[in-house]
Amino acid sequence: MRLIESVERVAARLDAAGLSFGHGTTNAFDEAAWLVLWRLSLPLHALDAFAQRALTADEEAAIDALVGERIATRKPAAYLTGEAWLQGLPFHVDERVIVPRSPIAEVIAEGLAEPWLGESPARILDLCTGNGSLAVIAALAWREAQVDATDLSADALAVAARNVARHGLGRRVRLRQGEGLAAAAGRYALVLCNPPYVNAASMQALPPEYRAEPELALAGGADGMDFIRSLIPALPAHLAEGGVLLLEVGHERAHFEAAFPQLQPVWLATSAGEDAVLLLTAEDLA
Ligand SMILES: C[S@@+](CC[C@H](N)C(=O)[O-])C[C@H]1O[C@@H](n2cnc3c(N)ncnc32)[C@H](O)[C@@H]1O
Repeated sequence: MRLIESVERVAARLDAAGLSFGHGTTNAFDEAAWLVLWRLSLPLHALDAFAQRALTADEEAAIDALVGERIATRKPAAYLTGEAWLQGLPFHVDERVIVPRSPIAEVIAEGLAEPWLGESPARILDLCTGNGSLAVIAALAWREAQVDATDLSADALAVAARNVARHGLGRRVRLRQGEGLAAAAGRYALVLCNPPYVNAASMQALPPEYRAEPELALAGGADGMDFIRSLIPALPAHLAEGGVLLLEVGHERAHFEAAFPQLQPVWLATSAGEDAVLLLTAEDLA
C-alpha cells in the first residue's frame, strides 16, 4: 500500500468511528496524515513528498495499532504521540496538561495587540501557563522580555519546564506555582491568560477527547467565570501603567459580559472566532 492510500484509509476509519477533532487538527484527513507520518517517523509537513512511498507490512500493522488506540481510548492524538504544534513550534504534551491550541498564540504571532502595547513589553506574565506554550511563544516574539509563567498545578509546571528547556528559554522564562495571581511578582506590561473557562453545562457535553484533558484546566464553574471573577478585580495591582491583558474566553462571551457589564473589552478576531480572545488595558480595569 502507498502512504497516501494508508492516510485515506485511516481517515475513513476515523470518520466512521465518529471521533472529535480540535486538538491540533480539525478533520479526519489531517489527523490521519499526522498519525501516519508520525508513526513512520517522517516529517509531519511532508505528506506530498512521501505520498507515493510504499509501506511494509510491519509499517501498516504499526499504523493500524496506533489508529486503533486513538479510536479505542478517544485520547487526543497528541497524547499518543507526546507532541503538539502551535504556531509552528513543537511542544511536549501528556495528560498532565491540555493540548496547546490557544488563539492567544495567534494574537502574539500576528501582532494583533501591537496597537495597544506600544513598545515591546519588558515583563510578561503567562497566567495559567499549563504546558508553557504561550510563555515560550511570547518569549520568542519579544526577545528582550522576561516572562513569568505561573500555574496552580505542579504537574503542569513539570511539563512547562520541559518545553521551556526544549526551546532554550530557561534564562528568560521563570516558572512559579501558585493559585491565581499568588505567584505573580510585581507589575507586568502584558498579562496573557487562558484560564479554565468552560461553563458547567458545556463541561457535561464535552466529547471524550476533551474529557481526557485535566478538568482543572477546563472547568470554570456554573457560568465559566469562576477564575475570571477573582482575576479581574485583583489584576490592576499587577499591571504596569499602559499594561495590557489578553484573556481567552472561548465561547463564553455572553457569560463574560453578564459577569462584567461595566467592562468594554476589545474583541480580537482569530481563527477561533470573532470573540474568543479579549483585550483590556490597565486603564479599562482601573
Ligand atoms: C486552559 S489551561 C491553559 C494552558 C496553556 N496556557 C494553554 O493555553 O495551552 C488552564 C490552566 O490553568 C491552570 N489553573 C486552573 N485553576 C487555576 C488557579 N486557580 N490558579 C492558577 N492556575 C490554575 C490549570 O492547571 C491549567 O494548566
